Amino acid sequence: MDGWWQTGVVYQIYPRSYADSNGDGIGDLAGIAAHLDHLAGRPDSLGVDAIWLSPFYPSPDYDFGYDVADYVGVDPRFGSLADFERLVEACHARGLKVIIDLVLNHSSSEHPWFEASRASRSGPFADWYIWRDSPGRSLTGGRRRPNNWRSFFGGPGWEWDRAREQFYLHTFLPQQPDLNWRNPEVREALLGVVRTWLDRGVDGFRLDVFNTYFKDAQLRSNPWRLGGRGAWSWQRHIHDRDQPELRPLLMELRAIVDERPGRMTVGELFDDTLVDAAPLIAPRHLVFDWSLITVPWSAAAFKRAIVDRDAAFGSERWPANVLSNHDQPRHASRLAPLGGDATAVAEWDARAKVAATLLLTMRGTAFLYYGEEIALRNLSIPNAQAVDPPARRASFLFPWWNRDQARGPMSWSAGAGGGFSSGRPWLPLAPDAARRNVAVESADRGSVLNVYRQLLGLRRASPALQAGDQELADTGAADVLAYMRRTGESAAFVALNFASHPASVAVPAAPAGGDWQVRLSTTGRGLGENIAGTATLAPLEALVATT
Ligand code: NOJ
Ligand code: CA
Repeated sequence: MDGWWQTGVVYQIYPRSYADSNGDGIGDLAGIAAHLDHLAGRPDSLGVDAIWLSPFYPSPDYDFGYDVADYVGVDPRFGSLADFERLVEACHARGLKVIIDLVLNHSSSEHPWFEASRASRSGPFADWYIWRDSPGRSLTGGRRRPNNWRSFFGGPGWEWDRAREQFYLHTFLPQQPDLNWRNPEVREALLGVVRTWLDRGVDGFRLDVFNTYFKDAQLRSNPWRLGGRGAWSWQRHIHDRDQPELRPLLMELRAIVDERPGRMTVGELFDDTLVDAAPLIAPRHLVFDWSLITVPWSAAAFKRAIVDRDAAFGSERWPANVLSNHDQPRHASRLAPLGGDATAVAEWDARAKVAATLLLTMRGTAFLYYGEEIALRNLSIPNAQAVDPPARRASFLFPWWNRDQARGPMSWSAGAGGGFSSGRPWLPLAPDAARRNVAVESADRGSVLNVYRQLLGLRRASPALQAGDQELADTGAADVLAYMRRTGESAAFVALNFASHPASVAVPAAPAGGDWQVRLSTTGRGLGENIAGTATLAPLEALVATT
C-alpha cells in the first residue's frame, strides 16, 4: 500500500455546524480545534486519520461557502488565517492530517476576478470567465442564449450581464460563475492557490465538481434525451463537462501536490457514472463515485453496488467509500425507518452499526460525515423555511432535496445548545440532542459511537481490513452481505445481516487452515469466539472475524 490515502479514514467536517467557540451560532475553526480529542490522539478518540474541512473561505454564502470570494483567505466568521494555522498545527501534533475543499470550477460573483471580468470586455480579467454574446433575439423578443446548457441548481446555465452586455456561464447559481480553465492565466492562478495551501501545511484537497472544470471548446449544445423529472435530465451532458483536457490538468496538479510527499487528493465526481469515474482515479488521487450513497437498505442492493464497482474499477483502482455527506440525506435516515418510538430507535441504531461496519471494513478509503458516528438523522426542516439555495428555487421543473436537513449542528452534550453553541444555532439542534450526543454515547458501551471506535481500532490493527483484496462470499442467506479481505498473512471475514430476523450463514474456510475468531459483533456475541461451518447471525448483527 502506498500510504494513508489508501488505508486511512477521513472525517468530513462542515465547519458551520461542528462547534461554535464564540456564541454567534455558527461553528468555527477554534471550535473544531477544541474538539480534536473526539477525533484522534486519545485512547477513546475515534481514531480517524484525517479531517476534510468543507469551505471556510470568505464567501457571500449564496451556496454556503461553495461560492468563494477569496481562495486564500479565511472568512472572519470562521476565524483567521492564524486560527487555521493553529488548527493545522494542533492536528499534526496528534497525527491527524488536514484536507481542505477547493472549489475551482466556479468562484463567487463577488470575487474580485469576476468583478473585474464583468467590468470590461478588454481588461486583464476579461477572459477569466466564460462570456458569450447573445446569438440574437427569439421570436418572442427575448435574448437567445449561447447554447442549451442548464444550471444544475435550476434554470438556464447562462445569465445576462447588463454591464458587459453578454451572457456568462454558471453550472450552479448565477452567483457562482464558471471560471475559464482554458485561459492559461486562470490555470496558473488556480494552481497557485494549490501551492499556497500546500505551503501552509495542508495534507490534501477535495476537489469540488472537478470533472466539470473543462467544457467543450466550441460550447456546443448538449443533445436532448428523454429524461426523468427536471429539465437537467432531459439532456445528455456530453459537452458541459468531462472533456479530455481534464486528465492532463489532473496530472499537472498531482505533480505539484507530489512535490510534498504524502499528500492526497479526492475529486468529487459531478453527476456521472462509475465508467466515467474509473479513468480519473490515479495514485494518491481518489474519486467520489457515489456507488454507495443512494443504495437502499438491502444486502442484495449493496452486493450489486460492489459488483458493479469492481467491474468498472478492476482490482487496481482504489475506491472512496461514502455513505453520507453535506449534499445527501444522512444515511441513518436513508437506511432506517422513520418513527421515534423505542423500537424504531433501536432499529435505527442497529442499522447504523451495520452500515458503519460495511463502510469501515470494505475495500477502499472510508469517508465519515460528522455526526454519523452518533447516528444523527436528518433534521426536519420544511421547504418553506429552507436556507439551502437550490431548495429555495425548487419547483416542478426543478425538483430538489433540501440539504439543510443533513447540515444540522453536531450534538456534543446534553447541555444548552447541545454543546454546539452558547448562542442560537444557525440551524436547529436535533430534537433528540439531549439523549443522542457524544457525551452520552461515550458512556454507553453498546452505543453507535463505541462501535465506530471499535471498528476504527480493528481496522488500524488489521492489514487485511486496511489494504486487502476483497472477495464477496456466498453465504446462502439472501439478507446477508458477506466478504473476505486478504493481504499476505492477514485475513478478515465480514458478515452483515440486513434482516430483523436471525440468519444462518455458511462461513467460508479461513485461509491456510486457520480459524476465524470474532473480533467485533454489533449485537454482543462473545469476542474471541471461533466460527466455522455454519453460523447463526442475530437480527441486524454485523460481525467481523480475523484469523
Ligand atoms: C458540490 C458541493 O458538494 C455542493 O455542496 C455545492 O453546492 C456544489 N458542488 C457547487 O459548488
Ligand atoms: Ca462562531
